[in-house]
Amino acid sequence: MTRGEIPASVRKEAERLRRDIEEHDRRYYVLDDPAVTDAEYDRLLRRLESLEEAHPALQSPDSPTRRVGGQARSTFSPVPHSRPMLSLENVLTEEEFGEWWDRVHKTLPDAEAAVEPKMDGTSLSLVYEGGALVRAATRGDGNVGEDVTANARTIRSIPLRLKLPPRFPADRFECRGEVYMHRRDFEELNRKALAKGSRTFANPRNAAAGSLRQKDASVTAGRPLRFTVHSAGELPKSLGIRTHEGFIRLCRDLGLPIAHFPLTVCARKEEAVAAWKKWREERPGLPYEIDGIVVKVNSLSGQNALGRTSKSPRWAVAFKFDARQAETVIRSVEFSVGRTGAVTPVAKVDPVSCGGVTIASVSLHNFDEVRRLGVGISDTVLIERAGDVIPKVVRVTRRGENPGEISPPAECPSCGGEVFRGALEKEPEVAYRCGNPFCPAQLERRLLHFAGRSGLDIEGLGEAAAAELARKGRVGDFADLYALKKEDLLDLELFADKKAENLLEEIRRSRTRPLSKLLVAFGIRHVGDRAARALADAYGSLDRLMEAGRDELLKIPELGPVIAESVMKFFSNPSNRAVIERLRKAGLNFTEEKRRAAPSPISGLRVAFTGELEWLPRSQLQELVRRLGGDPTDSVSKKTGLLVAGKNPGSKLEKAKKAGVRVVTEEEFRKLIGKGS
Ligand code: IVH
Repeated sequence: MTRGEIPASVRKEAERLRRDIEEHDRRYYVLDDPAVTDAEYDRLLRRLESLEEAHPALQSPDSPTRRVGGQARSTFSPVPHSRPMLSLENVLTEEEFGEWWDRVHKTLPDAEAAVEPKMDGTSLSLVYEGGALVRAATRGDGNVGEDVTANARTIRSIPLRLKLPPRFPADRFECRGEVYMHRRDFEELNRKALAKGSRTFANPRNAAAGSLRQKDASVTAGRPLRFTVHSAGELPKSLGIRTHEGFIRLCRDLGLPIAHFPLTVCARKEEAVAAWKKWREERPGLPYEIDGIVVKVNSLSGQNALGRTSKSPRWAVAFKFDARQAETVIRSVEFSVGRTGAVTPVAKVDPVSCGGVTIASVSLHNFDEVRRLGVGISDTVLIERAGDVIPKVVRVTRRGENPGEISPPAECPSCGGEVFRGALEKEPEVAYRCGNPFCPAQLERRLLHFAGRSGLDIEGLGEAAAAELARKGRVGDFADLYALKKEDLLDLELFADKKAENLLEEIRRSRTRPLSKLLVAFGIRHVGDRAARALADAYGSLDRLMEAGRDELLKIPELGPVIAESVMKFFSNPSNRAVIERLRKAGLNFTEEKRRAAPSPISGLRVAFTGELEWLPRSQLQELVRRLGGDPTDSVSKKTGLLVAGKNPGSKLEKAKKAGVRVVTEEEFRKLIGKGS
């Protein structure tokens, strides 16, 4: 061996390191499932760097050590695109989508369509030659883009070389996709920028676009960018690809990141609409922003047959979601009175469509919030509705002329009782409250809670019925419900013959619900599902629970001093006791059956779920966990025993990994509890 020659063992080690690092990049950025710690990853990269330094002949531009390099530049060179990078026509409603679908099917009656989420980022074209990344370009004006190769190389989900199979039939391969950012990475980036006093980005899309177009690639390298392929550039015939789905599969096999696989392929319009609804529902839980779906004719020959207009292809459409924010004007404010008498200001606004529903009223939460927002009647406000979250006012966008002040009412809008400002027990917030314990509005809310899903689950006792029963004085407390007769209901607006009978039957049926449900139904402050269950399990009967002292209650692990105090207070109140005695006479079940004692692999474990779960709806999974002696939870903390992660897991997964919580797939979970498929 002469000087300068590289020993075979070193060459081999370097090649293995490169492959391992590439695979770790893929696992981290593409699969979101790292196999090694950051420290281990750094160790591999440093080892490769030192080998390349010792043996310069090993260096090559596609080495993972060379992601960042070169000089900062003052401009980006223009790059003509092999075929134009088009934009997409938008449709906003099912009707508009239907028109697009019908138009396509007039020409191609049997066309199937592939559905993908529309990633909210910025587009990028990647060109590979001989498997090596040679050019990355932005969309630019669609015909000519900007050369951002140095920047794209720093994005670790973009492979610097493809996993080419032997005898790959194309030397040049182009794909296009979206550069985007995870929401939590975006927030972290802004947090850091704020701490340094630098400019923050308005949203993940701007952050992605801004970061990709940095003059200095080392700045881009520090930005948490990701990439996912969504379309082809020039596609050599030799590849034999016939469908969009086939193209995406090929990209995946070449090691390119595909955020969503497999794609949904639809033969009927209704399926595409269902997919649109599914993604709309999942949108809030995704780690990144999507603003709709893209529906594409799957067959490439079909795409060719349909062609394009000057701006966009006829074979694809962006089926957008309704914006989650909208502007509207506050016309008036009403006050709603809650279960505990808290008076909440509710803004009545000009109806607007937002996040898929029409919104006509928005809660302002409390008067501190009104002050913080500086909002008044006639102001134009930006409202937001993220997923199934209750709409809220984000900020005032334009003051109205003579905005009317929103201040607490002196009297309860329901009973005319005095409204005072005060906290209940150890509550952090100081609310305005109606002090009248017989206030019909409060009673109405209490009845609704009593009859709600997590309470005694009385179907037919919804908002309208609770309001009528409370306001017309037919029911003054929970026990009165069980004394109701058909005649009491028949002269009320809501109850025709059959409906009255149904409600009475439902009320009768509610008597057998277990103690844990009854405890929730009582609406004892701070006692939700979990505490109620713990109390019912620990005592088995209401009579035993009512005798429990403070110290005894505190022995139950799920209970803290605030809950214990609140429980004691509730049961020592003579009027509550009186209602309870009447409920006993009415025949309500005051006991809880012992839960199955047989040990299961999850007994005593707190179990959380994240992502799309296919086997059962989440509520049923939670019930199953309960039956097996586990404790279903919504959030992840150190105390969580097990996280079941489905497809597209949310931030809970990251949290669980950090906290060292055991994570299993849905399949593994089924096996664990003996229900494997
Ligand atoms: S296909 C010719 N698929 O949306 C059609 N585009 O308004 C090529 N985008 O510039 C685009 N997700 O950057 C396609 N799944 C997806 C997409 C997607 C996001 C972006 C893309 C394009 C813009 C069109």
